[in-house]
Amino acid sequence: REPVRSICCIGAGYVGGPTCAIIACQNPNIQVTVVDLDQARIDAWKSDHLPIFEPGLRDVVQFARDEQSGGREGFRPPNLFFSTDIDCAIASADLIFIAVNTPTKLVGQGAGSASDLAYVEAAARRIAEVSTSDKIVVQKSTVPCGTAQTLRHIFASVAQNTDVNFEILSNPEFLAEGTAIRDLLSPDRILIGSNTDSRALQAAERLADVYAAWVPRERILTVNCWSSELSKLAANCMLAQRISSINSLSAICEVTGANIDQVAQAVGQDTRIGSKMLRASAGFGGSCFKKDVLCLVHIAESYNLHEVALYWRRIVDINEYSKARFAKRIIQSLHNTLDRKKIAILGWAYKKDTGDTRESAAINVAGQLIAENAHVAVYDPEVRPDQIISDLTPHHNTDTLAKRVSIYKNPYSACEGASAVVILTEWDEFKTDGLPSPVANGLDKEVLEVRLVSIPRRTSEGSRGSSESSWVKHDCSSNERSAENLAESPISEPETIPPRLGKK
Ligand code: NAI
Repeated sequence: REPVRSICCIGAGYVGGPTCAIIACQNPNIQVTVVDLDQARIDAWKSDHLPIFEPGLRDVVQFARDEQSGGREGFRPPNLFFSTDIDCAIASADLIFIAVNTPTKLVGQGAGSASDLAYVEAAARRIAEVSTSDKIVVQKSTVPCGTAQTLRHIFASVAQNTDVNFEILSNPEFLAEGTAIRDLLSPDRILIGSNTDSRALQAAERLADVYAAWVPRERILTVNCWSSELSKLAANCMLAQRISSINSLSAICEVTGANIDQVAQAVGQDTRIGSKMLRASAGFGGSCFKKDVLCLVHIAESYNLHEVALYWRRIVDINEYSKARFAKRIIQSLHNTLDRKKIAILGWAYKKDTGDTRESAAINVAGQLIAENAHVAVYDPEVRPDQIISDLTPHHNTDTLAKRVSIYKNPYSACEGASAVVILTEWDEFKTDGLPSPVANGLDKEVLEVRLVSIPRRTSEGSRGSSESSWVKHDCSSNERSAENLAESPISEPETIPPRLGKK
């Protein structure tokens, strides 16, 4: 069969960018062009400051994007391109990935649970309108069951040129942010859904050949489109379910004598259950889990499977409860008043090793603390200050944010004089970089947790890595700074923060 020579990917986000970078690296004979409507995002992909932070991503992108000469490989022409010329990239591609966002619908039927397929449809229509040669169209976004069939209808009704054949495949992406490069290089499985006629099966084989450049064939599963679409939703729902399960158990631990880490270990050592995704936390975040669970809820409801819908909806309910419970514990531990108290928040990203803050538990927890008149002092090694402010802006007015939020470029300043330190992202540096000892004590495990401690105020110029002796003991009450002082706190040090915070 004819090998794929040219790939276009519509959507240069967390999925489109890394996935295509790996495909390009592993297939030097395939020209890969990633396109997006967002000019700034494309410009960033072309620069040294990529639009997303992901360990190992920069090396992979530079390898495929920039001409390589010398070394073991000798001369290697670039085969990874980023562009906003969507029509041109579509026209010259054999195979087109659709990797656009599929958020939860905000208005109309199914608002609050159904997936908004507007971006998918717009991308499909563009493909149908500009294509003059046969295309394999691969749905990579996470979508409800039946979307491949919907795309077939769109192509049948929109395509101008009836001689052009469109084969629609489903190929959901299973990478996790923070480990995307590792996941892409060594995937547990590649899932390809197709129809069962010979043309569709051949298209699926051509896509499988692209992956077979580095993925063992036995890990490439071919299934029907419905199974493929549902499997992606099911995988995310079951991962979210594990997190809500362990978080609900941690609530029981806190009112009994049980310890959630001990329970998680004992449960996880059962080989039928396994130990992964059993860390108690303030609740899951990220752009996918909540929306994908809600998408499954909507599918179940639309088939009148109300008990099934209810079962999955409770996973999201428990997650909301976990975030609220976490904030409540902080407030209760500080005598039910946060007025004039500084609370340090270490970590803003929804998980470590990403700068992504979408649906991060930190947004919710910080919001609850601000509502109690606390002053929150935020530090995250990868999230930009403007992102933190923009995450809070929908829930608080600018005046409140200016008074109640400071953003720091090192954790020591954020913790100085704080009544509590709240760790909301499990960044390694919070475990290993020698935080002030009251915080560091007990940070030996990978859990998100709140440490209610008295943080010593620094004497003078204590800096990151400074010894404990440069911190002066202080009790909780004397850590409380005046509202006037706090009001004067700027959103800290913005002018000294480089374009990407914490670049190492
Ligand atoms: P994203 O929001 O980071 O990127 C989507 C990009 O598509 C945006 O840059 C947007 O400008 C672009 N776009 C939208 N409509 C377009 C159009 N008509 N033409 C050109 N560009 C267009 O989204 P992300 O996180 O990459 O997710 C994409 C899909 O992959 C979603 O369905 C998501 O559920 C799924 N997914 C996401 C994962 C993640 O970890 N972020 C993991 C696995 C799947």
